[in-house]
Amino acid sequence: NSVLVHSPATLSNLGCGFDVFGLALTAPYDTVRLTRSSTPGIRIQHLDPYNLPTDPQQNVAGVALLALLKEVPEAIGFDVEITKGIMPGSGVGSSAASAAGAVVAANALLGSRFNKMQLVDFAMEGEAVASGARHADNIAPAIFGGFTVVRALQPTIDIIALPAPELWVAVVHPQIEVKTSDSRKVLPATVPLGLAVRQWANVAGLVSGFLTADYELIGRSLDDYIVEPARLPLIPGLAEARVRALAVGAIGGGISGSGPSIFMLNNTEETAQAVGAAMGSVFSELGIEFNVYVGPV
Ligand code: HSE
Repeated sequence: NSVLVHSPATLSNLGCGFDVFGLALTAPYDTVRLTRSSTPGIRIQHLDPYNLPTDPQQNVAGVALLALLKEVPEAIGFDVEITKGIMPGSGVGSSAASAAGAVVAANALLGSRFNKMQLVDFAMEGEAVASGARHADNIAPAIFGGFTVVRALQPTIDIIALPAPELWVAVVHPQIEVKTSDSRKVLPATVPLGLAVRQWANVAGLVSGFLTADYELIGRSLDDYIVEPARLPLIPGLAEARVRALAVGAIGGGISGSGPSIFMLNNTEETAQAVGAAMGSVFSELGIEFNVYVGPV
């Protein structure tokens, strides 16, 4: 009658794949416990210090569950306990993790009647509340695991889930606030064809690199010529963090989702630790507090 789900942090965009690519991490994760109730409605409790809204209409997990319940004919409700292991606003899919965890737990309590594409659809409703836009690039890896491609949202959701090669991720989270809604407002409305060509060449290169575990190809293909340049002014230290990360052996990286976190992919734990420290040194020099996370994909 009660289910507990660990829902992981995720990297979205992965450089060149704005709103398309996603990668699940093994940690940190949110913990979502759902209990099925014969009392209709959603009741949410947050067992963490982040002061997130518990009104189901304003809580990402609540909105996702309300979307799911619309497709359930029985008069049921859920009691929800969320413990956030992922700091909100850190750019590693915090809101997506809670929304995804909630619908996965609900589906388990309902005899797995929905498929993963449907779960992504429900969870995206929650994500839209947090970011002001319907995008599934964090939701998809949280639900499918591994490396995901959101090929389309319309007319139906089409997600391709691929295995990821062995990778270690280093993420630095500077304590500056960058809201996804704000960092989407700075994006260009149109893209010159020449830049678009370079970008989709990288997209193809990155997918090939992931499928063949070709780390050099991954490194050559991560660059984002369209979104990152527009967001660069929002994240002080980004350019220097990349220089220092590459100098100590990172494969490559960029802004994690809409920021402010910066991610770097690495082929060993040792390199990832060095890269995390190198990126952190930039923010200490800037006098900006930061957290570093290092973990396997
Ligand atoms: N793809 C989204 C963006 C991810 O970059 O705005 C935000 O969570």
